[in-house]
Amino acid sequence: MNARSAHDPSEAGPSRSGSALSARLDRAPQRLDLAEVPTPVERAPWLDTPKAKVWIKRDDLSSPIYGGGKVRKLEWILANPPFDTDLPVLSVGGIGSHHLLALVLFLRTQGRTLHGLTFTQALTPHVRKNMAVMLSCGARFWNVPSRAELPRAWLAYHLWRRPDVKGTPMAAGASTPLGCFGFVDAAFELAEQVEAGLLPKPDVLYVTAGSAGTSAGLALGFALAGMPIHMHLVSSVEPWAFNPVMMQLKMRGALSALRSAGLDAPGGARALLRDAGVTYEIDFDEVGAGYGEPTDQGRAAVELAREHQISLEPTYTAKCIAALRRAEAHDRGRPHNVLFWHTHAANDLTPLIEPGWEARSPVPLDGSV
Ligand SMILES: Cc1ncc(COP(=O)(O)O)c(C=O)c1O
Repeated sequence: MNARSAHDPSEAGPSRSGSALSARLDRAPQRLDLAEVPTPVERAPWLDTPKAKVWIKRDDLSSPIYGGGKVRKLEWILANPPFDTDLPVLSVGGIGSHHLLALVLFLRTQGRTLHGLTFTQALTPHVRKNMAVMLSCGARFWNVPSRAELPRAWLAYHLWRRPDVKGTPMAAGASTPLGCFGFVDAAFELAEQVEAGLLPKPDVLYVTAGSAGTSAGLALGFALAGMPIHMHLVSSVEPWAFNPVMMQLKMRGALSALRSAGLDAPGGARALLRDAGVTYEIDFDEVGAGYGEPTDQGRAAVELAREHQISLEPTYTAKCIAALRRAEAHDRGRPHNVLFWHTHAANDLTPLIEPGWEARSPVPLDGSV
């Protein structure tokens, strides 16, 4: 097994000419061309209110393998040390985590696999399907019943007697500083679309947050692109897991990595955002009973979106649309433009599910919700 640089980034195709971020970096890290960007922006009149005109950034269409936001992070992370090898990747998440699913699907294209330290979450049909795909594609799990018990999964993994195939650890949600680069680039992409007249400059952006790489990357990107905007961050997790301190830390880490890569931007993240007119708030009102627990407002959002050929899932994007509908219904301000950043993949993964996957399920399958 080759542990170093098994994947020449040039093999993934020519470097994307449209990466505005790479062009700004003297020492740009490598990047695999995994995402199909720019993703479209389109009007969503079905979400309009008397004061708000709503657009959608269709990142659900960002890849024929697995769209959504994760591919934007992985194309940077998987191209660079310590992940540019033949080894498995070790990462953490719920048993139906989209981050783990994205990793499984992109590692598979490189002949690699995922080792997941996972916790049991509400077994919605969506979670069950994600788990079925991951198991069918060869992922291995060390599962525990709750998030609090994850250290036990970590211990079990380290006691596992296969040092030759131990995975390289990756932070939850791929929200590493390099992972954030993907969303800095995504903000530049949106700024270019605004400039090209494809949509008016959004006054408010709704995007959902978990491990915060998406939010931190976008906030820095908007600031660097000089695009003032208010970010309504809809948390899918409880305040102990995502909060303003976490957001600052993520931005600080990403900014420092950007500087190491040659970005010329003075000051800290806070000053950068302030000077550019980029603001954010964190909305916990849709978390409901907790991470991964569906809510009635989320279910209503899924139904409404389905009528308009938009596929949401209950953990993140449904709660984000629920927040948008709630907050915009009460907004009595001036007419404004709103953007919903769609971060969930639209791909139908059913053909990947192998019969008999249930036998390898690390959780009992009788408790579906
Ligand atoms: C569909 C979806 N949207 C949004 C997010 C949140 O992204 P981040 O973890 O970067 O905050 C996730 C994270 O797993 C996700 O799966």
